[in-house]
Amino acid sequence: MRVLLTGAAGFIGIHVMDGLLSRGHDVRAMDSLRPDVHKGSLPWRVPRGVEPLIGDMRDPVAVEEAMAGIDAVIHLAAKVGLGVDVGDMPDYAASNDVGTAEVLVAMARAGVSRLTLASSMVVYGEGFGLCSDHGAVRPAPRFERALKSGDFEPPCPHCGQPLETQLVVEDTPFDPRNAYATSKAAQEFYAANWARATGGAVAMMRYHNVYGPGMPKDTPYAGVASIFTSALRRGEAPQVFEDGRQRRDFIHVRDVAAATVLACERHESGVRAFNVGSGIPRTVGEMAAALATTLAGPAPVVTQRYRLGDVRHITADSSRLRRELDWQPEIDFHDGMAELAHLDAASELSSPHRAMMPQE
Ligand code: UD1
Repeated sequence: MRVLLTGAAGFIGIHVMDGLLSRGHDVRAMDSLRPDVHKGSLPWRVPRGVEPLIGDMRDPVAVEEAMAGIDAVIHLAAKVGLGVDVGDMPDYAASNDVGTAEVLVAMARAGVSRLTLASSMVVYGEGFGLCSDHGAVRPAPRFERALKSGDFEPPCPHCGQPLETQLVVEDTPFDPRNAYATSKAAQEFYAANWARATGGAVAMMRYHNVYGPGMPKDTPYAGVASIFTSALRRGEAPQVFEDGRQRRDFIHVRDVAAATVLACERHESGVRAFNVGSGIPRTVGEMAAALATTLAGPAPVVTQRYRLGDVRHITADSSRLRRELDWQPEIDFHDGMAELAHLDAASELSSPHRAMMPQE
C-alpha cells in the first residue's frame, strides 16, 4: 500500500516508518518538525525511497497535496504530554483537533478511505474502580487539597472509600481529565463522524505509556522512563512523584509500531478502537527501580510531589487487539528497560532503515 504517515519524525513515527518499510509498503512521510519537539535533531533524515514532506496538519493546502495517490493514512502527528498549564489548551485543540479535521477533509476529497489514528489511554480518565459498597464506579476527581495531604487514590464518588482498580475495555465511556486527553477524545469523535459520512474505516489506537529508543528527552514531551534514564545517567536518583504506587502499562515502541502497522493493513471497515498495552500493569516506583538497577545508579526517591491533571492509574485490557488483529507484544519489560538504559546517543538513532543513505 501507499501510506501517508503523519508525525513521521516523531518518537512513534520513526518506528512505524521502519515497520511499514519492512513490510514492503511505500511511505510518504509528513511532519511539521515543530521546534519544541525537534530542537537539536534537524536536519530530518529519512530512509531512501521515502518521500519526506515538511508541513503542518493545520494547513489545508499542505494536507491536500500530501493525500494525492495515497491508499491509507496513519495519523500520528499531535502535541502530546500534559502541557504546562491551562494556557496550553488552544495549542492542544489546534494541533490535535484542527489538524485531524484537516486530514479527514483531505481524505474525503481524495477518496482515501482507510485511517489508523493515534489515540491514548488517557481518554478514559481514571477509568472505573470497584467500591466494596457501591460496585463499579467512576472515581471522583483528585482535588489539590487531597494530593497535598498525600491522599493520592481517587475515591468512590458516593462514600469516599478507596477503590480497587479495574482494567478498562474499549467500550468504557470517555472521561478526559486534562487538555491533551480532551483533544484526543475529540479527535476520535471527528474521525468517527468522518467514517460514518464517507463510509471510511478508522482504527483508533489507544496507546498506553510508550517507551524505547528515540524517546523525547529534555523536552516538555519526555515520558517518565526517559526522565528517569536521563537522571540516572547524570548520577542522580529518579524523582518518583506521589507515593510511587501509581500504575501504568509500559509498552515498548516497537510493539506499538507493529500494532499500528497491523491495524493499517487489516482494519478495512467501520470504526474500531484498540487499547494498546502489554497487559501487565507496573507501578512507576517499580519502573524507576528497574532502571536504577540496570544502570547501577542511586535508588529512586519517592517525593510525594504531584502534577495536577495526572491520572492515578492508567491500565486497560488490550485483549481485543490480540484477538482481532493477531498482535502480540514481543518485548519483555525488563529487557526493554535495560535496552533503554544502555542506549547511547549513536545507537539510539540507528535502525535498519535509517542506516541507509540519508535524504536531506
Ligand atoms: C503518557 C504519555 C501520554 C499518553 C499516556 C497514555 C508522555 C509524556 N505522556 O502520559 O502522551 O497519552 O501516557 O497512557 O509520554 N512521573 C514521576 N516522575 C517524573 C515524571 C513523571 O514520577 O519525573 C510520574 C507521573 O506523575 C505519572 C507517571 O510518572 O504518574 C507517568 O507520567 P508520564 O510519563 O508523563 O506519562 P502519562 O502522564 O502517564
